Amino acid sequence: MADDQVISKEQYDTFRDFLEKSCGILLGDNKHYLVTSRLNRLTKEFSFNTLGEMLDSLKKNINKALRERVIDAMTTNETSWFRDTYPFEILKGHLFPELAKRKPNPLRIWSAAASSGQESYSIIMIFDEFKSKNPGQISGRLEIIGTDISPSVLKIAKDGKYDDLSIMRGLSPERREKYFSKLDSGWEVKPTLKTMVRFSEMNLQQSYNLLGKFDIIFCRNVLIYFSSELKTDILERMARCLNPGGVLILGGSESPTGYTKAFEMVRYPEGVVYRLNGDWKP
Ligand SMILES: C[S@@+](CC[C@H](N)C(=O)[O-])C[C@H]1O[C@@H](n2cnc3c(N)ncnc32)[C@H](O)[C@@H]1O
Repeated sequence: MADDQVISKEQYDTFRDFLEKSCGILLGDNKHYLVTSRLNRLTKEFSFNTLGEMLDSLKKNINKALRERVIDAMTTNETSWFRDTYPFEILKGHLFPELAKRKPNPLRIWSAAASSGQESYSIIMIFDEFKSKNPGQISGRLEIIGTDISPSVLKIAKDGKYDDLSIMRGLSPERREKYFSKLDSGWEVKPTLKTMVRFSEMNLQQSYNLLGKFDIIFCRNVLIYFSSELKTDILERMARCLNPGGVLILGGSESPTGYTKAFEMVRYPEGVVYRLNGDWKP
């Protein structure tokens, strides 16, 4: 078993380069401790003799499982049900009523950086509640595409099974009872909700051409990790995936301002979203 080893400056720079190329994540100069502890863990897990050997293998790009685990270890998968509340209030109070008039069928929403699925399933719950309160207003079906770079969080999303701790984070007991079934340990999303969402692995640096067009895109709490150039690139490619009048919902600390003119800010009492700018030319 390898002892814990300190990463050299050269190794740190090589690793930083690898991470930015493979998933867009920018590592600051002050993450030596974090990188050292996480990579030492993986050096042991994959039975390499030294950290250097592990980094060499990573560079050669021959071990897919190692590459996935490294990206997994360096990304933040933090999420919760109805995270920040306001995006879901805006869906219910403003965007669904507006879409009810436009009658898209299906109504398509992309949860980019879906993590373990809480965002996608929260959208489905809000959609179901909107339909129950406003019978007949939306006749089309809802189709959600949830994508993420991390296979391990996508597995949880696809299974729709959550432990007792994660089920509590942001989910009311009423919604839990209505939309989940109790397991021996934890809870499982009901099959009717699962049929409305398709989860698949996708790196946001890759092409979006096969995804089709969307009415709404959720891209929350992931752009913060990327360079300015990558933010612009992702935002403009997302703009091209939106139907006219389509809406982008970002994380509370994220904004397209300064990166692209493809979106116009829309302020609702609950918060801010970004509508495709009809005058924008790609
Ligand atoms: C903090 S979570 C956000 C989850 C959810 N959108 C939310 O706001 O609760 C960020 C997610 O982005 C994913 N991610 C990071 N880099 C990515 C990339 N290049 N392509 C796709 N997903 C990426 C991570 O795997 C992680 O699940």
